Amino acid sequence: MSDDTARTQRLQTLAALDQQALLGGGEARIEKQHASGKLTARERIDALLDPGSFIELDRLVTHQCTDFGMERTKIPGDGVVTGSGTVDGRQVFVFAQDFTVFGGSLSGAYAAKICKVMDLALRVGAPILGLNDSGGARIQEGVASLAGYADIFLRNTLASGVVPQISAILGPCAGGAVYSPSITDFVVMVEKASYMFITGPEVIRSATHQEVSKEELGGASSQSSRSGVAHFTCVDDRAALELVRTLLSFLPSNNQEPPPLLPIVDPIDRESPELDNWVPMDASHPYDMREILLRTVDDARFFEIHAAYAPNILVGFARYAGRCVGIVANQPNVLAGCLDIDASRKAARFVRFCDAFNIPLVTFVDVPGFLPGLDQEHGAIISHGAKLLFAYAEATVPKVTIIARKAYGGAYVVMSSKHIRGDISYAYPTAEIAVMGPEGAVNIVYHKQIGAAEDSASARAEFVKEYRSKFANPFKAAELGFIDAIISPRETRPRIIAALEMLKNKSVPNPPKKHGNIPL
Ligand code: HXC
Repeated sequence: MSDDTARTQRLQTLAALDQQALLGGGEARIEKQHASGKLTARERIDALLDPGSFIELDRLVTHQCTDFGMERTKIPGDGVVTGSGTVDGRQVFVFAQDFTVFGGSLSGAYAAKICKVMDLALRVGAPILGLNDSGGARIQEGVASLAGYADIFLRNTLASGVVPQISAILGPCAGGAVYSPSITDFVVMVEKASYMFITGPEVIRSATHQEVSKEELGGASSQSSRSGVAHFTCVDDRAALELVRTLLSFLPSNNQEPPPLLPIVDPIDRESPELDNWVPMDASHPYDMREILLRTVDDARFFEIHAAYAPNILVGFARYAGRCVGIVANQPNVLAGCLDIDASRKAARFVRFCDAFNIPLVTFVDVPGFLPGLDQEHGAIISHGAKLLFAYAEATVPKVTIIARKAYGGAYVVMSSKHIRGDISYAYPTAEIAVMGPEGAVNIVYHKQIGAAEDSASARAEFVKEYRSKFANPFKAAELGFIDAIISPRETRPRIIAALEMLKNKSVPNPPKKHGNIPL
C-alpha cells in the first residue's frame, strides 16, 4: 500500500470516528433528548462557550469494559464531552455528560476524561464547569466506576478554593454522583428537567413507606428552597448556561487573581436622597433591604444567590465602581431579618467563597438576633450560627459594614463587626446597637420596678424610653470607636466606594495552620 493510500485510509478512519463521536448515542436518542426539552452535550457546550472557542480533548476515548458484552458497544468519547474554551474571552475547562450514550453513565475511562480537564484547570488556574446529565455509575463497570467517581471527588476537594467550580444539573444526578456537584461552589438546576438525590423514590418507599415523586424529592424547586443544595433554578438549559456565563463575570479565574474590574459607568459620587427616610424608626416595622442595596450598587444590579433559600438573609454579587463585591444583608421583610440555621449556613458558605476568591464583603445589618425556638436549638443553631461567626472572623478580604437599624446581641458581633476584624463600619442614624431590644431588656433589668408600679404599662414605657435613649442608638458604639462614622443613608454608595478604595491593598495573614476546625 502506498503512503498516500495509507494516509487517506487513516483520515477516513478518523472522519468516521469523529462522525460517531459527534452523533453520540445516535439520532434517535438525540431526538428523545430534544423531545424532553433538553439540549445535547455538544449543544450545551456551544451555548455555554464563546462561539468557536471550544477545544475538545479525548474525543476518541472509549471504555475498557469487557463484561456484559460491552466490548461490542463502544462509542468514541464514551458519553462525556470534555475540553476547554472561553467565556467572555476568559479561559474555562468544561465537561458535559452525554445522556444519549449509555444514559450518560460514568465509566472508568469517562471519569479519567473528566479528571484530565480538572487537572489541566488546576494547572493553569481556570474555572471548572460541569454539565451534569447522567444515570450515575455505569452498572456494567462495577467498582471501576466507583473509583472514577472517587477520583473526581478528590479533585473537586483539592480544587475547592483554588479555582471556581460550577455545576449545572441538566438531567438526572443521583446516588453518590451528587457529591461532585455538592462540593463545587455553585449548583444551577433546571426546573422540571433535573433532579438530585442520594436515594430515589423507590428506595425511600421500601425503606420508610413514604411516597414521594422525583420532583418533590429532589427537583429544582425542592433543592433550591428546602435544602439549599441548589443556588439557582432556571427554566431551561439555555437559561441555565447563560446564568453560568453571568456568574463567571463576577469571579476571578483562580484564587491568585482579583475579580474582573469593569469600567465605571455609574458615577461613584452618586447619592440616593430617598434612602434618608427609607428605614423606619420603629424597630419592629419591616422593610425591603433589597431596595437599599439596589440603590447603592452599580447600575442597580444585584446578582442574587440562593434567592429561594433562607430569604431572611440576602447574599449575592454586585459591583461598586466596577469592582465586584459579595453582599450579605439581613432582610427585615422576612422573619424580621433574624439569623436562623438556614440563614447562617447560607451566609457562611458565601462569605467563605468570597474570602477564598479575593472578593471584598459588604454587609448590611438589621438583625434582631438569632431566631428563638426549640427547633432551632435542637437543630444546632449554636453550631450553625458559629459557622457564620467563624467565616467572618477568618475572612481576610476587605470587609465593610453598614448598620441600618437593629444590631442586637450576638448577631451584632457576627454580622461583620469590628470585633471580628471588620475593617470599616458605618451606621445610619436609625441604628440601634445594643445587647438586646429595649422591650426584652427592660423586662429583665426592671422587672421588679415594673411589677411594683401602680401602672406597670406606663412604667415599662418609661423604662423603654430611657433604655432607648441610652443604648438603642449608634452613639455609644461611635463613642467607643466600634463604628467609624454615623452616615446619612443617602451617601451610602460613595462611602462604600471610598472604603473599598481605602482597603484595596489590604493584606492580613491568619496564623499558620493546616486548616481551622469550623463547626460543621
Ligand atoms: C448503565 C445506564 C445507566 C447506568 C441508564 N442507562 N443508567 N446504563 N448504567 N447507570 C442506560 C439505560 O439502560 C438506557 O439504555 C439508557 O441509558 C437510557 O436510560 P433510560 O432508562 O431509557 O432513560 P430514562 O427512562 O430517561 O431514565 C433515566 C434514569 C434511569 C432515571 C437515569 O436510566 C435509571 O434509573 N438509571 C439507573 C440509575 C442508577 O441507579 N444509577 C446508579 C446510581 S448509584 P438503552 O440502551 O436502553 O437506551 C451510583 C453510585 C455512584 O451512581 C457512587 C459514587 C461514589
